[in-house]
Amino acid sequence: MIIAVDGPTASGKGTIARALATHYDLPHLDTGLLYRAVGAHCAALKLDPDIPDEAARATDFPDDLLADPVLRSEAVGGLASRVSKHPAVRAALLARQRDFAHQPGGAVLDGRDIGTVIAPCADAKLFVTASVAARARRRHAEMVARGEAVTLAEIAADLAARDDRDSKRAAAPLRAADDAVLLDTSDLTIERAVEQAIALVDEALSAKRTSGVE
Ligand code: C5P
Repeated sequence: MIIAVDGPTASGKGTIARALATHYDLPHLDTGLLYRAVGAHCAALKLDPDIPDEAARATDFPDDLLADPVLRSEAVGGLASRVSKHPAVRAALLARQRDFAHQPGGAVLDGRDIGTVIAPCADAKLFVTASVAARARRRHAEMVARGEAVTLAEIAADLAARDDRDSKRAAAPLRAADDAVLLDTSDLTIERAVEQAIALVDEALSAKRTSGVE
């Protein structure tokens, strides 16, 4: 069983994807981390994240970079959003994500293009959204807890810029798959959002089973 969870930054999709993985006892891949690793490796090698060939050279990042907490910073998030617009970067990360999705028993993946490109055949697809204001408040609280000195206004501007870049790029833009179910978490606690996500996935799975029988 493959569960695809897509949505913009700080929508709650990561938390929801992890909770779904625990609930259905499936392995989970946060695909944003792969793009963050490319962005961070690009900076470490002093390559230009806006030049396709240079960014593509950073896709052979060392695996242990994926565990580095620096990947969670806003600065690396911005780099990830810049490298991720290059088709060559996306192509280099495709097989790794597809293999993860199609492992025996299935998986939960979260990102921007899981339901549209990585696993269009997913058994359940969620598109998690929230208002920019709600997402900025959450991201700001996370950053402050981590000791990063950022203002709410800076975070809101950064989120809006990233949404704009992610949804307008030509290669695999951020958009809901036609058969994805929308979940708006703006006014939900984490607990309510997870409950609703589980209910929506259960519904999608039973609808799929029913249509398979007919
Ligand atoms: O989800 P996260 O904020 O960690 O992703 C960082 C950046 O990586 C996003 O802004 C997006 O540009 C890119 N990304 C992507 N496709 C994915 C996951 C992330 O383009 N499947």
